[in-house]
Amino acid sequence: MENREPSFLDLLLETHIGLERQGPGSPEAVDRALGFLGPLDRFRETADLGCGTGGQTLLLAERLPGRITGLDMFPAFAEELSRKAGERGLGDRVSGIAGDMARLPFEKDSLDLIWSEGAIDNIGFREGLSHWRGFLRENGCIAVTCPSWLTEERPEEAERFWTDAGSRLDPVEDNTGIMQECGYAFIAAFALPEECWTDNYYAPRAKAIESLLKKYPGSETAKQYAELNRREVDLYMKYKQHYGYVFYIGRAV
Ligand SMILES: C[S@@+](CC[C@H](N)C(=O)[O-])C[C@H]1O[C@@H](n2cnc3c(N)ncnc32)[C@H](O)[C@@H]1O
Repeated sequence: MENREPSFLDLLLETHIGLERQGPGSPEAVDRALGFLGPLDRFRETADLGCGTGGQTLLLAERLPGRITGLDMFPAFAEELSRKAGERGLGDRVSGIAGDMARLPFEKDSLDLIWSEGAIDNIGFREGLSHWRGFLRENGCIAVTCPSWLTEERPEEAERFWTDAGSRLDPVEDNTGIMQECGYAFIAAFALPEECWTDNYYAPRAKAIESLLKKYPGSETAKQYAELNRREVDLYMKYKQHYGYVFYIGRAV
């Protein structure tokens, strides 16, 4: 139990640092996306952008032969990935670094694969794809999830929520068009199933938030934070047929 008033950022980091994932996704979705990219032994240099604490980064390390660098704006997340990689004996091939996806610290034309789950919308789908293109070698590949509209009907309440969160939803066909305009051949797109949100992300996050409410009893910020998270879940359950994360897979041309 603590008396200090945590900030929203404290709460966000404390909620997510111990979770397997920091956003919707699953090992099955990783494997499905990789299935469009074979043969996998050509991926010697991979970057996982907005990696969080690296749930998917470590899975990629089991599937791919080369080096994988996870990059995240929060140093604590990147350090956690490096720590886990070391613990699993992967420290020579997998590392987490702190950095900004909008200003990549890699050499131009140095990456075979760019992976990014649940993060690109923070800088914009077009902006991200266009900036990242220059870091891929010829025929390098990209696999990225982005929240997207899945139907013609686009409920305003959902749109407002995502805009207020600093993100946006676009239809899948618009995003596949953007991919091509940014210098990629479009390979495939598929929507993540519901359990990627509910079982794999929202349920463990709700447990972590319960613990935080106990840690900070009487904190107004903690209550507001919990309420915002609850609202996000309610909105997803109400409108899940209309929007979701979509995996976009492409090749640099
Ligand atoms: C929804 S989480 C997804 C994390 C992880 N990829 C996953 O799927 O579990 C989004 C991640 O992107 C990171 N992020 C957001 N904006 C970023 C930026 N400009 N540069 C680097 N990382 C960023 C956040 O810190 C967060 O860890």
